[in-house]
Amino acid sequence: MSGGIDQRKRLLLVVACALVDADGRILIAQRPEGKSLAGLWEFPGGKVEPGEAPEAALIRELAEELGVMTQAACLAPLTFASHGYDDFHLLMPLFVCRRFEGTPQSREGQALKWVRARALRDYPMPPADAPLIAHLIDLLGA
Ligand code: C5P
Repeated sequence: MSGGIDQRKRLLLVVACALVDADGRILIAQRPEGKSLAGLWEFPGGKVEPGEAPEAALIRELAEELGVMTQAACLAPLTFASHGYDDFHLLMPLFVCRRFEGTPQSREGQALKWVRARALRDYPMPPADAPLIAHLIDLLGA
């Protein structure tokens, strides 16, 4: 988390997930060309629609982006990112999910990688995502 919220900026609520496999590795996705922050690696997720619960948004995004199915009971809240970008302030809860169905597939042209928590630092991430790594190392170890 970083600093306070500049009240002049619009708030954007995005929800993200650390999908963890049986070996304790975490899935990251590379933002494709044509998107903002293209080339950077992020935790899968996306925008929360008005009226949508964060868990419901994450379940929807995991299905749309990766073809992975899970349930709210399998999503454990870990922490949240709070980062001021130039034109908006991002609030982004991070959930951990160890129980899901299906093998993640790239449905939107994004590269996918399973990496150990400590190796996450080797992948350039958006400034909102990078501070989340320490929480995942605390939770999962190296
Ligand atoms: O993924 P999407 O483009 O809808 O996300 C909106 C904005 O939220 C991005 O432009 C990026 O600035 C931010 N974001 C982020 N980290 C993520 C997902 C989104 O910083 N994991």
